[in-house]
Amino acid sequence: MLQRSRKVCAAKSDSGIRKLRAVWTQARGFQAWGLCPGGLGSLFGRSSNGRSLVSHGTHMSLIPWRIRNYCNKLYQGWMFPRVFRRFLSTIQAGKVPDPSVYSQLVVAWGNVSFSADTRYLQFCVSQVQAGSGPILECGSGLSTLVVAAVASVRGRELYSLEHHAGWREKVQRELDRFGLNTVAHLPSTPLVSHGDFDWYDVAQANIPAGLTLVICDAPPHSTRGGRSGLMPVMRKSLAPGCRVLMDDGIRQGEKEIVRKWQADFGGTVTEDMTGKGILVYKVPEGVSGLKPVG
Ligand SMILES: C[S@@+](CC[C@H](N)C(=O)[O-])C[C@H]1O[C@@H](n2cnc3c(N)ncnc32)[C@H](O)[C@@H]1O
Repeated sequence: MLQRSRKVCAAKSDSGIRKLRAVWTQARGFQAWGLCPGGLGSLFGRSSNGRSLVSHGTHMSLIPWRIRNYCNKLYQGWMFPRVFRRFLSTIQAGKVPDPSVYSQLVVAWGNVSFSADTRYLQFCVSQVQAGSGPILECGSGLSTLVVAAVASVRGRELYSLEHHAGWREKVQRELDRFGLNTVAHLPSTPLVSHGDFDWYDVAQANIPAGLTLVICDAPPHSTRGGRSGLMPVMRKSLAPGCRVLMDDGIRQGEKEIVRKWQADFGGTVTEDMTGKGILVYKVPEGVSGLKPVG
């Protein structure tokens, strides 16, 4: 009897998975035919780069939000490991992932308002592939997993700063699940006062010296001083010529922070060509080029 009910349960969950798979395949089919350009996400009110279509006013989902949220959660929990494993194995095979995989990752991760968008992820991946040495990240999430995947094949290590304990646990669980926890380190780094601004407490974080790349996507905008603390606090751990990839460089606040770093510490600033306004701040090449702290 028990065995029979187990079999029924297994059959039901199999058929559930088959249904989800069918919806996904159908959505991908629609996408290929241009009927559903955002993929499955857009059925639930999301665009292909993961932004909410409802808030952009371009499209209203016909599905009530409760059902939509429930379906989104089901879909994300089922889909993210599959999309991420596909991305990981492509990277591990030394191949270039299809650009569409980034939209799938953003949608399946399901933290659209906060996670790095497709262009920032792609830009980070290209920078990690192009260099060597340890990487620092400010603000963990989808970018941590994506960068850790690439870092693992490049023999690089990632140190990600995260102030939010609950979020940090979630990201750590994902790193554990995909076997990336030896490459990516996620120390507990609450936000603390550093005088004129708040920034991560890195005293116990064991961040190595000689960081060659910084992925700067936090702390959140509401933090006193925003992201400005990176250079004053971490400059001694940055290698000469280290590149800081400042996300959201389209915002006035981020522009001013980068310009102030340049004025206070020297170095150069360039804007990337992705159209998203990612600013690349390059630390001076020689120690002599580093201006004394103002
Ligand atoms: C811009 S997010 C960083 C996103 C990360 N780079 C990624 O790709 O997912 C900056 C910070 O917001 C916080 N955060 C992430 N998701 C959040 C959410 N859904 N609600 C509130 N805060 C969130 C985390 O503490 C994170 O470090």
